[in-house]
Amino acid sequence: MKLRLDKYLADMGIGTRSEVKKAIGKGLVQVNGSVVKKTETKLDTDKDEVMYCSNPVSYAEYEYYMLNKPAGVISATQDKGEQTVVDLIADRRRKDLFPVGRLDRDTEGMLLITNDGALAHRLLSPDKHIDKVYYARVRGTVTEKDAEVFRNGVDIGEDRPTLPAELHILSSGDESEIELTIREGKFHQVKRMFQAVGKEVVYLKRLRMGPLSLDGTLKPGQYRKLTQKELEELC
Ligand code: URA
Repeated sequence: MKLRLDKYLADMGIGTRSEVKKAIGKGLVQVNGSVVKKTETKLDTDKDEVMYCSNPVSYAEYEYYMLNKPAGVISATQDKGEQTVVDLIADRRRKDLFPVGRLDRDTEGMLLITNDGALAHRLLSPDKHIDKVYYARVRGTVTEKDAEVFRNGVDIGEDRPTLPAELHILSSGDESEIELTIREGKFHQVKRMFQAVGKEVVYLKRLRMGPLSLDGTLKPGQYRKLTQKELEELC
């Protein structure tokens, strides 16, 4: 891929476009071993070697991370006061990462963080009906009647009832454990579906989104890059 030196460095988070222009002007940037002072110099990201302050800066067009989102962190790119899911990706190289969809602040689990807008669009598009699987603990006795209601679509106060969803009851009692597969992503959807049948979600974790299952070795707050196989499955 061909792009300008200042964009290359800004994309890699070295600074804003004007900061990197200054750095280039000061002679802090080398390309293939020579100082380059023209910000508009065109680079081939596959071949040219860039150094900033004597440190190599390789180019990543796209980055893909699986994060086990912990509770207490917001699904946003940046925030003045609050820690965001993107802040948790300490190894990130791109400055334009974002979460693919949102989990509530108190929800844990599988969240894809990337800068690949086309992929995000495909995964989030309402027409694609991508499966999302959640584990929840629910206050109240969840029954097969609830499963039937969810299968038929439930009124959560939107224009239309929810699409058919599969409820699998893992245990049932004063507090029940369930797995729920939904194919849309309405605001607070899982919590609102249980509210509609008179129950309250007290813990929620996403286990899967489309082909991407949460890596069980990731503790809340931990992340890793997607594997080649996961990327191929996504595409
Ligand atoms: N449904 C919810 O209610 N909350 C989430 O975070 C995700 C799905």
